[in-house]
Amino acid sequence: MYEGDDHPLAAHTAVLTTDADTQTPSSGAVLAVGSLLPEGPPPSLALDSGTTTWWRIRGMATAEGMRGRGLGGTVLGELLARAEEQGGGAVWCNARVPAVPFYRRAGFRPVGGVFEVPLIGAHQAMWRAVAAGWDTDHPVPVSEDPPHSQGAVHA
Ligand SMILES: CC(C)(COP(=O)(O)OP(=O)(O)OC[C@H]1O[C@@H](n2cnc3c(N)ncnc32)[C@H](O)[C@@H]1OP(=O)(O)O)[C@@H](O)C(=O)NCCC(=O)NCCS
Repeated sequence: MYEGDDHPLAAHTAVLTTDADTQTPSSGAVLAVGSLLPEGPPPSLALDSGTTTWWRIRGMATAEGMRGRGLGGTVLGELLARAEEQGGGAVWCNARVPAVPFYRRAGFRPVGGVFEVPLIGAHQAMWRAVAAGWDTDHPVPVSEDPPHSQGAVHA
């Protein structure tokens, strides 16, 4: 459970196994999960490009033995679609360093340096525009572009 998990705009997506006969979710069979929360990036990333909405991806995980089959990508795609439905903007995450290629393939770009999270390991902040048509290659640092925070959604 993360702070903001119960925000009305938060979304939690899971891939579940289904019972072959009833096509309903089987108990206890979560294969992949991820969450989307309305939360701006930390000021240290200097990542306000004038978007009105920032989202954060958290808690992405696919069960061991089920990785590399597209489940994480499916969850991430659902969460990005949800962010787009809710007005778009930009999305960021703190990726574990081994997961950086996963997020890169989904269009995320690293920002800032690698940092250590105690007991979990090295992390890299990453971000992308929710939808195409927004300049992901040229984020404007806060220092050069005063934040346009009207209407912003921050948890
Ligand atoms: C990161 C994680 C969620 C990815 O889930 P997954 O179900 O394995 O991902 P997918 O199978 O959907 O992969 C999607 C794409 O990313 C690529 N990818 C996934 N993990 C990768 C890795 N470690 N290195 C390179 N590419 C990777 C896949 O090849 C795939 O690319 P493709 O569509 O071109 O074939 C999963 O590996 C995991 O749970 N890792 C441990 C926990 C973790 O690190 N969570 C992230 C915390 S930020």
